[in-house]
Amino acid sequence: MGGAGKELRVSKIANGTVIDHISPGKAWIVLRILGITERSDVVISFLMNVPSKKYGKKDVVKIENRELTEEELNKIALVAPDATINIIRNFEIVEKRRVELPEFIEGVVKCSNPGCITNASEPVVPKFRVVSKAPIALRCAYCERITGEEELLSQF
Ligand code: CTP
Ligand code: ZN
Repeated sequence: MGGAGKELRVSKIANGTVIDHISPGKAWIVLRILGITERSDVVISFLMNVPSKKYGKKDVVKIENRELTEEELNKIALVAPDATINIIRNFEIVEKRRVELPEFIEGVVKCSNPGCITNASEPVVPKFRVVSKAPIALRCAYCERITGEEELLSQF
């Protein structure tokens, strides 16, 4: 497993989702995207900065008995573009996929410009072009303002 050594650091799970290859340090924000707080009654395994063959270091989050929505996956792609989503049923990986960071993003996040038409009272769906992947930078299709990682993180 992921170059961690001879033994698993945490157990395999029976059912749920393993989010693997999260950019190091970003597991916290992944939990925030999923709405998981200290009050949540869910079983989570949380690995941070563990060795990874592919990326040097990575975070991993295992969430038992939960599968993720497309909207959650789209948000995770913004902060962890190399994340792998493994869906586990009865201990087997029944689906493995990468999150996808498309060239254009619509409606997932807000523009950082308070004066942008997408932040006006009449709703206009925000649209961005992804101009950088890691760290993330989105250029607004309406006002051209760049929304960066800091501003995105404050929305999650
Ligand atoms: N996993 C788990 N519970 C299971 C099955 C897998 O927690 N019942 C976890 C593994 O510990 C690993 C991840 O899911 O963190 C992916 O498993 P696997 O595909 O077996 O590992 P790798 O081959 O290292 O994955 P990849 O090819 O995506 O790097
Ligand atoms: Zn804008």
